[in-house]
Amino acid sequence: MDKNKYIIIALDGAAGSGKSTTARAICEKYKYIHVDTGLHYRAVSLHLLNLNINPDSAPDYLLSTPLIFSSKLDDSSVQIFLDGTHYSKSALRNERMNREVSYYARIPEVRNLLLNYQKSLPDFGKKSGFSGIIMDGRDIGSVVLPHADIKIFLHADLQVRQSRRLSDGEQDAISARDQIDSTRKIAPLACPDDAISIDTGKLPLGKVVQLISNEISSLQ
Ligand code: CDP
Repeated sequence: MDKNKYIIIALDGAAGSGKSTTARAICEKYKYIHVDTGLHYRAVSLHLLNLNINPDSAPDYLLSTPLIFSSKLDDSSVQIFLDGTHYSKSALRNERMNREVSYYARIPEVRNLLLNYQKSLPDFGKKSGFSGIIMDGRDIGSVVLPHADIKIFLHADLQVRQSRRLSDGEQDAISARDQIDSTRKIAPLACPDDAISIDTGKLPLGKVVQLISNEISSLQ
């Protein structure tokens, strides 16, 4: 038991499974830093789209012109910068980016480039004075932070997830995205063996937060 232990939480799940809502609630309760790695993939995709680089030509482009990532804090969230440019949330979360992102996210060169950056973020959080980090995505428990203190995998029926997106006002063909994300060769969306799997269609947010809080308490 260590009251000062820096807690690392990996939070994975498909689109609309409740990752962002859960991460925000935990960060607020414990004053942890939050990293949304979906925004990393969205930012790289938009950066390449703006340069007219399609997924087929992305590997050659990235090998010859590597992107430099840096971070800034926005309250408790980490904002990613690509060669000094930050893209707003509205530029990254819209119908076009929902449609395009998974085609770029399945490219090994894109994932390798982001992997080192993402692995460095727990240290960034520690140096910035936070007492823990919650990082959400698709491959956090399996690839990015395999030694995380707590691994959570959120899921819910497709219908539940689709209706959440609609009530957020987002056009998002999530079953098409699920299909690409879970069948790609590298770092597919899957529940890690050592993760706690939670159906957010059956448990309200308060109970999900309670489950994760119990895990945090058992480490401190
Ligand atoms: O918010 P939502 O769950 O719909 O998506 P997101 O977390 O913003 O992720 C957008 C896309 O980025 C996903 O559909 C994946 O294709 C990709 N992604 C990934 O491959 N690996 C991650 N760790 C995070 C996102």
